[in-house]
Amino acid sequence: MSSYREFHRRSILDREGFWAEESKRIHWHKPFGKVLDYSRPPFAKWFVGGETNLCFNSVDRHLKDRGEQKALVWISTEVDQVKSFSYKDLFNEVNKTAAMMQSLGLGRGDRVIIYMPNMPEAVFAILACARLGAIHSVVFGGFAAASLAARIDDAKPKLMITADGGSRMGKVIPYKPLVDESIRLSKFPPAKVLIFNRGLDPQMPLVDGRDVDWVSLSSKFKDKIVDCAWLESSEPSYILYTSGTTGKPKGVQRDVGGHAVAMAASMTHIYCGGAGDTIFTTSDIGWAVGHSYIIYAPLIAGLTTILYEGVPMRPDAGVWWKIVQDYKVNVMFSAPTAIRVLKKFDPAFLKKYDLSSLKHLFLAGEPLDEPTHAWIAEGLGKPVIDHYWQTETGWPVLTALHGVEKTPIKYGSPSFPAYGYDLKLLRESDASEAGADEKAVVAIEPPLPPGCMSTIWGDDERFVKTYFSTFSKKLVYSTFDWGIRDKDGYYFILGRTDDVINVAGHRLGTREIEEAVNMHPNIAECAVVGVADQLKGQMPLAFAVLKDPAKKTSSQDVMDTVDKQLGAIGRPKAVHFVTLLPKTRSGKTLRRSIAALAEGRDPGDLTTIEDPNALQQIKDCLGIK
Ligand code: PRX
Repeated sequence: MSSYREFHRRSILDREGFWAEESKRIHWHKPFGKVLDYSRPPFAKWFVGGETNLCFNSVDRHLKDRGEQKALVWISTEVDQVKSFSYKDLFNEVNKTAAMMQSLGLGRGDRVIIYMPNMPEAVFAILACARLGAIHSVVFGGFAAASLAARIDDAKPKLMITADGGSRMGKVIPYKPLVDESIRLSKFPPAKVLIFNRGLDPQMPLVDGRDVDWVSLSSKFKDKIVDCAWLESSEPSYILYTSGTTGKPKGVQRDVGGHAVAMAASMTHIYCGGAGDTIFTTSDIGWAVGHSYIIYAPLIAGLTTILYEGVPMRPDAGVWWKIVQDYKVNVMFSAPTAIRVLKKFDPAFLKKYDLSSLKHLFLAGEPLDEPTHAWIAEGLGKPVIDHYWQTETGWPVLTALHGVEKTPIKYGSPSFPAYGYDLKLLRESDASEAGADEKAVVAIEPPLPPGCMSTIWGDDERFVKTYFSTFSKKLVYSTFDWGIRDKDGYYFILGRTDDVINVAGHRLGTREIEEAVNMHPNIAECAVVGVADQLKGQMPLAFAVLKDPAKKTSSQDVMDTVDKQLGAIGRPKAVHFVTLLPKTRSGKTLRRSIAALAEGRDPGDLTTIEDPNALQQIKDCLGIK
C-alpha cells in the first residue's frame, strides 16, 4: 500500500497516467483515445473519444457475477414498507422504465425532470434516463412550485416524472398539485407528466392528455429490453441545480465517462467499499450526495445500496443503527445536522445494536463541529470521517483516504486533499499562497479532476465567470469557502466567502430567499442573512422594509410567502420589520455586518454606511443595547 502523500503527488504530477489506471474500473464500449483534453482551459474533457453508459456500468455489468445479489433495498419508515431488488430485478425494472420513457418520445439528449421522494421508482427513472442517454435533473421534493418552474424553464424538459406525494413524520405531502402549479408557471412546460401513484393522495388532480399513469403504462412493457445508448465520455449525463449568490440557480452539468470513473475510484480509495458490501447513505436523492452515494458510486462498484425514506428519530432514535445491524451495513454516509439531532436523544441508542459490520461513518455537507465529531465517534466506537465537497465536484475534495492509508483523524478537520485535486489556499488580496494557520480561500488549480462539473447547463460563460474569476491574476476554481491548514497539513473549513448559507445541510443562497420574501405584495425590499443555529448549523434571518406600513403585515405572512415561493427549507427563523436597510453609499447591503450583529460579533468596518440609523434599527430588532 502506498502512502497518502505519494498517492496524491502522483495524481497531480502524472495526471494522465493516474487516471488512465483508474479508468479500468469501468466498462468502456469503445476505448478512449486521449485521457485528457485541456486545450480550452478551464474546460476539461476526460477520456476523449471513449464510449460508455452509466446504466450499463451500474446494472448490466453485474448480471453475470452478482445477478442475485441485492442491488437496492428501500426502507420506508414513513409508509412502513421494505422492498429489495436484486441486480437482476433492477435490470428488469430499469428496462421497463426506459421502454416507458421511449414510448413517451424520449431519446438521447432530451431532458427529464424527476420530482420524487426517496422511492425505488425514482432510482429506476434515473437509471432509465442514463440508459437512453437522456439527461436527468432531479429536483429536491422540498422545493416549491416557483423554484421548480425556474428549473423547468432552464432545463426545458420533454418529460416530468413525479409521484402523488411524499411523507414526512407520517404526514402526507402532496406533490402533484405543486407540479401542476409549476407547469402552469413555466414558459417551457413538458409535454408529458409520468406519475407513480402511491395511493397517498386520493384527491390527486389529473390533466387529460398530459398525465400518464406509471403502473398502467408499465404493464405494456413487462419483459422489454432497451439497448444502452453508448455515449461519448463528455456528453452530459445529468443536471443538478444548486444555489449561488444570484437568485437564479445554476445547473451543474456532469459528464458520463469522467463521472463513472470518479465514482468507482472513490468507492475504493475513500469509502473502502467493495462489491458485495452494503452502503447506507441517508441523503435525499435530490442532492448531490444522493446522486453519487445512494445511486451511482455504490451500483457502479457492485454494492448493495440502502435507500431510506424517513427521519432519523422515528419510530425512535435507534432506527438507523438498527438498519446497520439488520442489513450488515459496512459503509454509512450522513450529514452533521442529523447527528446533532440524534445528540438530543439517549446515547444508549448508539450501543443498543450490533454494529460490528460498520467500518466507517462519513459525514459531509456542512461544518462538523468538534464536540459533535467526538460525540459520535466515541459513541459508536468507529472512525467517523468528516469530508468536504460540493455539488460542483460530485465527490470529496478534502477527506481521509483510508483505502490508501489509515491516517489519524483530527476532530473538526476533513483531513487532506483527495487525489486529483491540486488544492491551494490563496490569499484573497493577490492570489498568493497562504502559509500554515493562515485563513485563505480554498481553491483548485485546474484542470478539475474527472467527475467534477463540466460546465453550467447552457451557459459556458457563466461557468467561467462564476467559478474561475475570483482572482484576476490566476485562472483557478474558487470553492467560495474559507479554509486553513495547520502545521501537520490538516485542513479546516471556516465557512463560505459568499452569500450562500447552509441550513441543515441544505444549500441556499440568501439572494434566493430575498427574492422569495420580495414576492410578498407589501414588501419593498429586504436583507436575508445566515445566523448560527445549534441544530441546523445556520438559519436564515430576514429584515424587511414594508411598502405601506399602514397595511397590516405579519412575519407569518412573509414566512408563508417564502414557503410558497421557495419551499419551507428557506423559511426564515424570524422576519423583522425595519424602515431602512444598512447599506453602503454605493447601495450594497451590509449583510456581513447584519449577520455579525445577529451572532453577537463585532459588525466590522462601518465607515462606508450611508445612514447609521439603519444599523441601530437592526440592533433594536435584535434587542442589542
Ligand atoms: O460550504 C461548504 C459546505 O457545503 C458546501 C457545498 O454544499 P453542497 O453543494 O450542498 O454539497 C454537498 C456535498 C457534500 C461547501 O461549499 N460543506 C460541505 N462539506 C463540508 C462543508 N463545510 C465544512 N465541512 C464539510 N465537511
